[in-house]
Amino acid sequence: MTKETLILSIESSCDETSVSVIADGQRILSNTVLSQIDSHKRFGGVVPEVASRHHVEGIIPTIDTALEDAQVTMEDINAVAVTEGPGLIGALLVGINAAKALAFAYDKPLIPVHHIAGHIYANHLEEPLTFPQMALIVSGGHTELIYMKDHLSFEVVGETRDDAVGEAYDKVARTIGLSYPGGPKVDQLAAEGEDTYDFPRVWLEKDSFDFSFSGLKSAVINKQHNLKQKGETVNAANIATSFQNSVVEVLVGKAIQACETYDVKHLIVAGGVASNRGLRREMTRACEEHDIQLSIPSAKLCTDNAAMIGAAAHYLYLNGARADMALNGRSSIDIEEVGE
Ligand code: KG4
Ligand code: ZN
Repeated sequence: MTKETLILSIESSCDETSVSVIADGQRILSNTVLSQIDSHKRFGGVVPEVASRHHVEGIIPTIDTALEDAQVTMEDINAVAVTEGPGLIGALLVGINAAKALAFAYDKPLIPVHHIAGHIYANHLEEPLTFPQMALIVSGGHTELIYMKDHLSFEVVGETRDDAVGEAYDKVARTIGLSYPGGPKVDQLAAEGEDTYDFPRVWLEKDSFDFSFSGLKSAVINKQHNLKQKGETVNAANIATSFQNSVVEVLVGKAIQACETYDVKHLIVAGGVASNRGLRREMTRACEEHDIQLSIPSAKLCTDNAAMIGAAAHYLYLNGARADMALNGRSSIDIEEVGE
């Protein structure tokens, strides 16, 4: 029997310190996630400096726990992978410096990974990716439709022109008094309300796969101001349902249209907002109707974690992608550069 390839991966691009050990890009031996949400809650969002400090405190214990949970030592590991970007620069640098130290001390190859490639490969941990495929990325920082004709081949066919969808969720949540991160709470509230406010669906130009959510966010805020001025009460559950219906209809409509235009029969959804129940339900229904295979990772793999970074790193490792000790964090990187 050939020995499995073990990759130790590190993710620290935002507010989760996470370390994982992945066998052959698919089997999770450990996936330790240390969340900082409680620290950022009181500020209503992620404070970069606070995030960096928590990563510094958490990174070494998280590495130790991930190795312990996987019941392996650094000697057993074939390569060390780390999120290079995009993300908060100070937060990224903590993970990158830890990865460089491990790679140097144990003489292991160092593999830089694009955070969004990680979100896409989260699917691969539960169901093998098949090609060609379309990926809809919906997170706190990204909203993109990406066409993949093979492993590590990323063509961005649509992206947001303003707010990311998770960002719009978090901002709308704040207007109805829900604490950070508001996305999951809006999702929960949306199940209790009705679509009474009739918010716009922003389709942009015909045939465009781009998105725009800032107009919708303003419509939600204006509606609440108008109601208050007229002395009428704002029904928060109805705001949540009306907002979510608008977002979901556009995400589903554009994703299906992109699959048809690119003649793709496999759609994956990735990123924190992929755990949204309304989106999962409607996307499932639409894919059944259009005979498209749909993959969405389970909720714990949708939000930031190192297992997804390890899954993408496996293919980069096989492809010969290597970084040296000059590796630096990059707050923004074009995903189309990956695999070149
Ligand atoms: O992918 P992720 O963990 O971090 C980024 O890379 O951005 O995504 C976090 C985002 C937050 O904006 C959060 O509010 C949103 O995902 N989110 C949700 C849900 N769960 C997380 N948004 C809507 N519905 C959800 N169920
Ligand atoms: Zn993410």
